[in-house]
Amino acid sequence: MYERLADSIVKHLDFERISVILEAGCGRGQLTMPFVRKVHKIKENFKVIALDFSSGPYEGDLDILKEKMRREKLDKVVVAVKGDVKNMKTIEDESVDLIISNELFCELDKKGLERAIKEFYRILKPSGQMAHGELSPIPENEAQRLVIEANAYSLETSQPKPE
Ligand SMILES: C[S@@+](CC[C@H](N)C(=O)[O-])C[C@H]1O[C@@H](n2cnc3c(N)ncnc32)[C@H](O)[C@@H]1O
Repeated sequence: MYERLADSIVKHLDFERISVILEAGCGRGQLTMPFVRKVHKIKENFKVIALDFSSGPYEGDLDILKEKMRREKLDKVVVAVKGDVKNMKTIEDESVDLIISNELFCELDKKGLERAIKEFYRILKPSGQMAHGELSPIPENEAQRLVIEANAYSLETSQPKPE
């Protein structure tokens, strides 16, 4: 899934003038790794700020990402930052060319989402681009259908439970 998502981002965006990328809610780097590898194939000089809360159920994930990047010798390209997308005070106005995320928006409530989007527009350059992924509720095969159905019964879901 992450390989396909990274492919899709690289295919649909214009990377010519991109040098600073923010991956918001990067987690342990499942998307970061394939994305960076694919961008590397089309350009040399770029940096990725991999920002995450890394707390609660995701505690320690940023350390896993850091270790992965060090092992893959990508730690000069990817800078891991612990922070909140709702208040990214360490990132200057209009300093980022591209913002990507995957399964971040579903973690935020309405107010949080509005604050995050406001922050994205603050840090994004006027010519900047964004790409945000969320899970689709439409399965592509039987295995995905079963996962979606099982998730509907999860205690964590905010959706009404099926009868
Ligand atoms: C479902 S995980 C997705 C992780 C990764 N993007 C992926 O696709 O595998 C959601 C991530 O968003 C992060 N997150 C949630 N709220 C956040 C916030 N307010 N600021 C920064 N990161 C946040 C969590 O810590 C977690 O790593």
